[in-house]
Amino acid sequence: MAELQNDRFLRALLREPVDRTPVWMMRQAGRYLPEYRATRKQAGSFMDLCRNKELASEVTLQPLERFPLDAAILFSDILTIPDAMGLGLRFETGEGPVFDNPVRSMADAKKLFVPDMASDLGYVMDAVSTIRKDLNGRVPLIGFSGSPWTLATYMIEGGSSKTYSIIKAMMFDQPATLHHILDVLADSVIAYLNAQIEAGAQAVQVFDTWGGVLTPRDYNEFSLRYMHKIVDGLKRENDGRKVPVILFTKGGGQWLEAMADTGADALGLDWTTNIDDARARVGDRVALQGNMDPSILYASPERIRQEVATILAQYGNGSGHVFNLGHGIHPEINPEHAGAFINAVTELSGQYHK
Ligand code: CP3
Repeated sequence: MAELQNDRFLRALLREPVDRTPVWMMRQAGRYLPEYRATRKQAGSFMDLCRNKELASEVTLQPLERFPLDAAILFSDILTIPDAMGLGLRFETGEGPVFDNPVRSMADAKKLFVPDMASDLGYVMDAVSTIRKDLNGRVPLIGFSGSPWTLATYMIEGGSSKTYSIIKAMMFDQPATLHHILDVLADSVIAYLNAQIEAGAQAVQVFDTWGGVLTPRDYNEFSLRYMHKIVDGLKRENDGRKVPVILFTKGGGQWLEAMADTGADALGLDWTTNIDDARARVGDRVALQGNMDPSILYASPERIRQEVATILAQYGNGSGHVFNLGHGIHPEINPEHAGAFINAVTELSGQYHK
């Protein structure tokens, strides 16, 4: 395997010294890029794109051809696990993901199983190894999964939801059913991320996109507990190098201490927490990734640069910060504004690492 030429992302996650703050964007390969839309059209459907290792690698590398990013993220989706469990995943235009066979009862839950990583999800591992080969050591590759709670919202609701009414009714009335589902999911995520690491993922991120809709008590019992189990079950070193783990709960700013207690290396932060406060609370235990409001990218390049400068100053001197947006880039963003953001981080952050 080619020697890694740029490791500042991995070093910052482990709070080791770097020359400048590393930067990547959640959803950096996606619909805001015209070249992504062209490849997506060529592939047919979104899942066909995920299942084609050459095209998945092509779209993973597209943002790196445009911008000086410090990491690549596997092109795939969090819903590959429930798809492999036979829930019948479809992506409907305008509607988002839909499951034909949602999980609604203990009988449904008992049918769930840990998918076989080679036969059911081998296409993801093939994409990981193809991307590693195509990256040729340029930057590290991030693998990822959804958190059990976030995956369960889609599996139980049958798609995206505004109210989480079905999963919350289950949580309150049939907690044993929900715990059974979350437990199978946690075992699946452990096997899935370890397989990605063995195939070449150099860091992994758990997306807990919907953890923030829970009360603090319910977050502990139904989301964090399973992410803790995942952190405990992951392979933390591969090929002679540490494999850092990042936990991202959107809306989880008030729970950073508890998230750091899991033993994760880094926490993702959305834009509703100040990064200086977050650093004061947990910065001696974990690195922080974030946390610019993605909507800033609708503003002018000058205003974007000013926001980057403010967040860099807020974090302050020293390592332990990976610059990112607080959530994924929106599909209607002008790619030049994304470029202004990334260039600003590369140009303005060196002064904090002298
Ligand atoms: O970050 C990256 O560039 C890597 C790729 C990636 C995708 N999905 C590609 C994708 C990642 C990391 C994800 C994770 C994901 N998927 C999450 C968690 C991340 C987050 O945003 O918090 C969630 C909740 C999903 C579920 C999902 N996948 C939804 C709700 C949708 C529909 C979105 C929409 O607006 O239509 C998807 C589809 C999807 N996943 C797309 C992409 C690029 C769009 C599909 C298309 O090309 O039409």
